[in-house]
Amino acid sequence: MKLYLTLLLPFFFLSCKDSNPPKAVESNNGDSQYYSEAYRPQFHFSPSEKWMNDPNGLVYHKGTYHLFYQYYPEDIVWGPMHWGHAVSEDLIRWTHKPIALYPDELGYIFSGSAVVDHHNSSGFGTEENPPLVAIFTYHLMEGEQAGRNDFQTQGIAYSLDNGDSWTKYEGNPVIGNSNIRDFRDPKVFWHEQSERWILTLVAGDYAKFYASQNLKDWDLVSEFGREQGAHGGVWECPDLFKLPVAGSSEEKWVLLISINPGAPNGGSGTQYFVGDFDGTTFTTDQSGEKWLDHGRDNYAGVTYNNTPDGKRVFIGWMSNWDYARSTPTEVWRSAMTLPRELQLHKEGDQYFLTNYPIDALSSISSEVGTHDITSTNTNFILYRDDLHNSDITFEAKLSEKLDIHLGNDNDEWVQLAWDPESKVMQFDRTRSGQTDFKDNFASPVQKQSYDPQQRDVEVRLLIDQSSIEVFIDKGRYVFTNQVFPEQPYNFMDVETAPNVIIKRFKHHTLTSIWKGNE
Ligand code: FRU
Repeated sequence: MKLYLTLLLPFFFLSCKDSNPPKAVESNNGDSQYYSEAYRPQFHFSPSEKWMNDPNGLVYHKGTYHLFYQYYPEDIVWGPMHWGHAVSEDLIRWTHKPIALYPDELGYIFSGSAVVDHHNSSGFGTEENPPLVAIFTYHLMEGEQAGRNDFQTQGIAYSLDNGDSWTKYEGNPVIGNSNIRDFRDPKVFWHEQSERWILTLVAGDYAKFYASQNLKDWDLVSEFGREQGAHGGVWECPDLFKLPVAGSSEEKWVLLISINPGAPNGGSGTQYFVGDFDGTTFTTDQSGEKWLDHGRDNYAGVTYNNTPDGKRVFIGWMSNWDYARSTPTEVWRSAMTLPRELQLHKEGDQYFLTNYPIDALSSISSEVGTHDITSTNTNFILYRDDLHNSDITFEAKLSEKLDIHLGNDNDEWVQLAWDPESKVMQFDRTRSGQTDFKDNFASPVQKQSYDPQQRDVEVRLLIDQSSIEVFIDKGRYVFTNQVFPEQPYNFMDVETAPNVIIKRFKHHTLTSIWKGNE
């Protein structure tokens, strides 16, 4: 790739640095190594060490957002699953807690959810001190290895001290297995109208809904999806919730379904359905597939129960089963996406979901500069300095091609480009840095149909030490990707057709969320 130097914008042109090693994070106790390893995310959640996959048990209770997660404390590859645990008051800064759930004789602790049992329907607590109840899948490895199909069942556990300690229910499993090989990932919520708990889980490549009065006794009430949506792989990590349609009094139900493999750009991805749920059955007249993210690293994402402001906040696992076990980190492996608010919109008769970083991100953000750019030059460097820990937004009127590179002096780069002929936005990480740890990491170049019809479009880039999240049009089009450059990206260049005008370039830096947290 060439550097285009036709126009240097002096206010962005800071001195070109030599390779910058990832910055050390200062700590209160002088431990400057804490969360400062190469590729260590600075404003995303990652475990202090060892393997992590899906977010689990996302629930808010008494001022605390809980983040449980699939965790193997012995290695940086997947193994016998536990629920790791972290807490936050703002969903941005996290404090690590001891492991919440350990495997037992019924199996490993796979993905699931948590609820506040406000009226103590389970009897585990009291009305005054309602229990937190976790609902998860037991995976009995011995059963799988013996060639059985019934090795996944659903269990529950409760906590009376806001998640610090957990007791497993002696009546587990609460949902047994009738010979369904993939039968997992229960997500539970309280359904107001029918006054009962609703549990969604996945069975092979469709969903099942159960109902309960007490979180212990569950009845199967319906199924969904044998004929709808994408079926290129097994369905995982469902989530069902109601959302208002922005700008109207209409409300619809959204069903998130992770699928692996079978995502539009390969491997793991998240599809969704917009429809109705009457307390028993989910229906939709949606035709075709809808996807939450066209990047390759947003999987198994689910939303918070019981948020204080009623917002629907989503967190995904920022990886992909295609290569998750091979990414080039040594102390820990993988991170979560930024927490994102989900909103539902309608255009014509089509519904679509947006996912966009929560506003609280501004609490770690400081403005570097906002500039109006009037240039119509075709090739120019928009920014030159370390781009990591950045939040960058710009606007452009798109009628002809736009081609942006984030790169470093080691000839490593990623490209975000829009082509007016095909009306496709693409994200290319084939030359992004270390890619050869697994042959299916670099390719394919990710593509998403995008027709802005000469509108002003907004592009926001959130760049951490080993990830780039791209949000176009406030989260209507999203690419979430891991990247492993050998040096930090330290320039952003733009190639456009002459009548594409880049306007308003805003740059914020983000402070490490781990600073002073150890
Ligand atoms: C999704 C998933 C879930 C399962 C968990 C196991 O990434 O496969 O279906 O519960 O991971 O760790």
